[in-house]
Amino acid sequence: FNRTLFPSGFVFGAGSSAYQSEGAANIDGRGPSIWDTFTKEHPEKIGDHSNGDVADDFYHHYKSDIKLMKKIGLDSFRFSISWSRIFPKGKGKVNDLGVKFYNNVIDELLSNGLTPFVSLFHWDLPQSLQDEYGGFMSPKIVEDFREYADFCFKTFGDRVKNWVTLNNPLSLSSNGYNGGTVAPGRCSNYVGNCTAGNSATEPYIIAHHLILAHAAAVRLYKKKYQRHQKGEIGITLMTLWFEPKSNTVADREAASRALDFWFGWYADPITYGSYPESMQSIVGDRLPKFTKTQKEFVKGSYDFLGVNYYTTYYAVNSPLQNSLNRSYSTDSQISLTVVRNGVLIGTPTALNWLYIYPKGLRLLLMYVKDKYQNPTIYVTENGVAEANNASIPIKEAIKDSIRIRYYDGHLKSLLQAIKDGVYVKGYYGWSFLDDFEWDAGYTVRFGITYVEFKNNVKRYLKYSAYWLKMFLLH
Ligand code: GCO
Repeated sequence: FNRTLFPSGFVFGAGSSAYQSEGAANIDGRGPSIWDTFTKEHPEKIGDHSNGDVADDFYHHYKSDIKLMKKIGLDSFRFSISWSRIFPKGKGKVNDLGVKFYNNVIDELLSNGLTPFVSLFHWDLPQSLQDEYGGFMSPKIVEDFREYADFCFKTFGDRVKNWVTLNNPLSLSSNGYNGGTVAPGRCSNYVGNCTAGNSATEPYIIAHHLILAHAAAVRLYKKKYQRHQKGEIGITLMTLWFEPKSNTVADREAASRALDFWFGWYADPITYGSYPESMQSIVGDRLPKFTKTQKEFVKGSYDFLGVNYYTTYYAVNSPLQNSLNRSYSTDSQISLTVVRNGVLIGTPTALNWLYIYPKGLRLLLMYVKDKYQNPTIYVTENGVAEANNASIPIKEAIKDSIRIRYYDGHLKSLLQAIKDGVYVKGYYGWSFLDDFEWDAGYTVRFGITYVEFKNNVKRYLKYSAYWLKMFLLH
């Protein structure tokens, strides 16, 4: 089993994101993002009370890291730009040192034969924009995001040909404004232990502005840059695959609703110009509406869809009980489980939310093909973590057989989907390095490269990296 089985030109890479890996949070002019604030104000919300101040210090290690990528034989590296490293206040004055850093990373990748695959936004909103007008709660964000995107296209677009506007916006709208588990950590008192937010309305407003901001960047790229820069632009959406818990109509509808509330929430507007019907009828007036002009603006606003797939759940119908306690998660009227008739949906891992279920990737890709007009797809994330266990010596910890098994299974499932006619152009494992895993901090390790955080972030390739090297060598 190796890469020659895949279509020629198929891209294999590994991913990262700015706040999770760069470190250098307070140097060379970078401004704070909502993640700097969140981790400082609420260390108790992070598994090990940590933050991304240092992370992998990719900021100072990108050269040797790119050498490692080359050694493994990766075609491409996926990373995100920290908005507040370019515009410390979100807009206005540019930070030249930040620009220089990304120029260096891009040039270093290209001179080592790797393609940069770049996200503009991976959750780390400049704190100033959050302070000034509530970030994505305000329509003002659309113009500021467009300006930021414009600067990135103008500055890096001669060399960057793959742009992602937003990575997994669902996490910002749902976890940031309903669960309260990621920045800015808002939620109503009935869903978490915070009282600051209103989870019945905020996630929907956030999502609406995320979609408009995404479309604004895409329209701008198409109008002003695409013809001469000849790149492509899309969005990355994260979803689980959902299997009905039982064969009843109610559970089958629950699974379909789950996909609407996770994937369709974003994919429907940018493909068809409106939210899924199930959301419109359940959420009602709390779901913002696109004006006629906005509909046309968001409809068809991508060249490709990035899909982040990790795992599958059973969906169970769960009727809305208490209309006063409406929130995003109860709106979807589903509950999730991993067991059916006493049988687990996949193989358990160190993460309680991640069971290994490769088949789900193929089923999800088929679903996206059928439901969204056979789009161009990249699998932008797929991966598994082990626990960060200090008592295990490094030479044992790098024997990550679980990850080899995970990648082997998912790549086979992906190949099957391609054979079944899904148009997939590339696959990115998550992640290149062990990194700051948001609310889990450094307690879990997703990387194909082990990072010794306590010893100058020293790197060691794990067995999965060597497995990938063999897979790619052919
Ligand atoms: C996401 C993020 C990643 C996470 C990964 C593992 O889409 O959730 O892009 O930053 O680290 O998903 O949880």
